[in-house]
Amino acid sequence: MSAPKKLYIKTYGCQMNVYDSERMAETLGGQGYVETKTPDDADMILLNTCHIREKAAEKVYSELGRFKGLKAEKPDLKIGVAGCVAQAEGEEIMRRQPLVDLVVGPQSYHRLPEMEAKAGAGEKVLDTDFPEEDKFEKLKRRPKAKRGPTAFLTVQEGCDKFCAFCVVPYTRGAEVSRPADRILREAEDLVERGVREITLLGQNVNAYHGAGPNGDMTLAQLIWELDKVDGLERIRFTTSHPNDMMDDLIEAHGTCGKLMPYLHLPVQAGSDKILKRMNRSHTAESYIRLIERIRAARPDILISGDFIVGFPEETEEDFQATLDLVEEVKYGTAYSFKYSTRPGTPAAERAQVDPKEADDRLQRLQALLTRQQREVQDSMVGRELGVLFEKKGRFPGQMVGKSDYLHAVHVADCDAEIGDLRRVRIVSSGANSLAGELIT
Ligand code: SAH
Ligand code: SF4
Ligand code: F3S
Repeated sequence: MSAPKKLYIKTYGCQMNVYDSERMAETLGGQGYVETKTPDDADMILLNTCHIREKAAEKVYSELGRFKGLKAEKPDLKIGVAGCVAQAEGEEIMRRQPLVDLVVGPQSYHRLPEMEAKAGAGEKVLDTDFPEEDKFEKLKRRPKAKRGPTAFLTVQEGCDKFCAFCVVPYTRGAEVSRPADRILREAEDLVERGVREITLLGQNVNAYHGAGPNGDMTLAQLIWELDKVDGLERIRFTTSHPNDMMDDLIEAHGTCGKLMPYLHLPVQAGSDKILKRMNRSHTAESYIRLIERIRAARPDILISGDFIVGFPEETEEDFQATLDLVEEVKYGTAYSFKYSTRPGTPAAERAQVDPKEADDRLQRLQALLTRQQREVQDSMVGRELGVLFEKKGRFPGQMVGKSDYLHAVHVADCDAEIGDLRRVRIVSSGANSLAGELIT
């Protein structure tokens, strides 16, 4: 038997790309590829890319440039670009960087085996179609390979919201939900392979409306089905849109034991004028009322968010409204970004905010968010929490896991195994993690 070919995948962007990279590795496994951790000994390199901000897209070209030497040494090396840059820029990638052999958009991964064969025969191949079929159903799975205790599972993909700044509706296409039975089968398979916690993924995950036995199901109904899967201990989902936060999902946060008390619910800005120009179709007030209802169902829930500062025409007063909203909501974690112009999106044509001003606002917002994050993390000290252990720590006998609220927790002299869910008393709060001791 010939030696297996080696595949190096580098993943950028959101969790959905992480999930997709796993699926691509599995499907190319069927073509005789095994994964390698370095590009140096690879027969095929795949960059799974992100187009959300300009910097993310530019990184891809600088990374590709670095493979020149490798390709010169090894002319048979195949280089592919997958993900959202592939979808957005298509053929332009091969024009800008001729060493690229293959460009594949996020909806065409199931065609990778054919594409790989063509690339192997010396052809340049490109596929950025939006086919009708469920690509995940067509992708090959690795039979029962053991895996770590946490996994992502894509249940919904694409977006119909068209926020004025965002490329996702163009790169991922229209919103599509996978049928519930396929998701359940995949979840059961993951649990058999050692998974204890599943994070359901979608660009608009709470808009999930996949086919079920009695018509379309909501995300909450899907979560209740997953709740019945023996051996699955924790369920999470991300990312949600405020307008799709249905009553049954809010209620599930109060009643479903496996659903974790953590919700990523981006608001983007606190000024109604800016929200309107962003095409977010919610107001600051409606968002705050929504958070109140969620906290009424689950008082200890940790709220996470995304923010954009320096959106076109944002004034200092508008920015103050964002700070006010943050003060009111109190976030446990948050991601904040300076607005980045994306060609082809409506906001790209509008009057841009002075970049220095935007930098200054970003710093002020991040200072406030960091303070809140710190307070929420520190408030865990003294509490007894569930921790799912994921890996060994840096010190002998130390284990690291995640709490229900997704904080990293270190435990010294720990007899827990990877994959154990144990009760832990939190004793201190450090720079980016908590320390605790096992209760039992
Ligand atoms: N579907 C999710 C998030 C998608 S992208 C949602 O609706 O919230 C992740 C985050 O990137 C967004 O929430 C937004 O804060 C940020 N983002 C998207 N486009 C951006 C742009 N053009 N400039 C800066 N940040 C952006
Ligand atoms: Fe982008 Fe808005 Fe869709 Fe989120 S809801 S993916 S920010 S268009
Ligand atoms: Fe980036 Fe595409 Fe995800 S643009 S954030 S990789 S959906």
